[in-house]
Amino acid sequence: MRRPDLAIALDLPSPAAALALVDRLGDEVTWYKVGPVLGTAAGPDLVRELVGRGKSVFLDYKWHDIPNTAAGAVAAAASLGAALATVHLSGGRAMLEAAASARGGKLRLVGVGVLTSLDGAGFGVVMGREVSDVGWEQERLMQPGLGLLDGFVTAPGETARIRGFAGPDAFLVTPGIRLSGGEGGDHRRSATPGEAVQAGTDLLVVGRPITEARDPAAVVQAIRIELQPRAQTGGSRPVA
Ligand code: C5P
Repeated sequence: MRRPDLAIALDLPSPAAALALVDRLGDEVTWYKVGPVLGTAAGPDLVRELVGRGKSVFLDYKWHDIPNTAAGAVAAAASLGAALATVHLSGGRAMLEAAASARGGKLRLVGVGVLTSLDGAGFGVVMGREVSDVGWEQERLMQPGLGLLDGFVTAPGETARIRGFAGPDAFLVTPGIRLSGGEGGDHRRSATPGEAVQAGTDLLVVGRPITEARDPAAVVQAIRIELQPRAQTGGSRPVA
């Protein structure tokens, strides 16, 4: 049975703000995502601090570089003790191979295709052609990563389709999560935690709905309830 977990995106301006939230949530949350915002401000010390507190760190720098540089970054992430990192699938097969072979035994590497902030029209501008099916574009970008990477970042609306395409063993990470009744913010393709779970994700990534909440623990609890397998009577069906 798939047991999806929750990662909080620590897109906060300082390590002090990040660690205050981590302290506040205590054992309620294991996974934290450190991206370019906090990573640039706080660097590897914060990652070491989180790892030292027993947290699983998702280092989300979305590397897209020449193979040698991407591989060096992945090796550095592995030696820091990160549990998960991202590379852009559009970096090409050679970059993906180099990155995958540098990850060692403990770091999972997942590929990013189309950012959840882009819809078909926005991605069409990037590509210089009409894009009618973002899910198909995601699959096209994933092709060179199949069998090389541990999994993929998927937009909520495409998660079920990507699960079918990537197979049951792929580790799927889903950002763009918004609580029922909340606003989508800058995500063009968002979903509720329950919808993402039902679609077959392994790790939900939630940032601002938790980091900007007056009571972050209450939001985490509400999400955890949605992550539970449900009885067949109403609501989402259990995650198989
Ligand atoms: O605050 P919010 O919940 O929108 O945070 C979503 C997080 O997921 C951000 O840190 C963003 O960088 C990340 N992300 C994303 N789309 C992707 C990959 C990562 O929104 N395709």
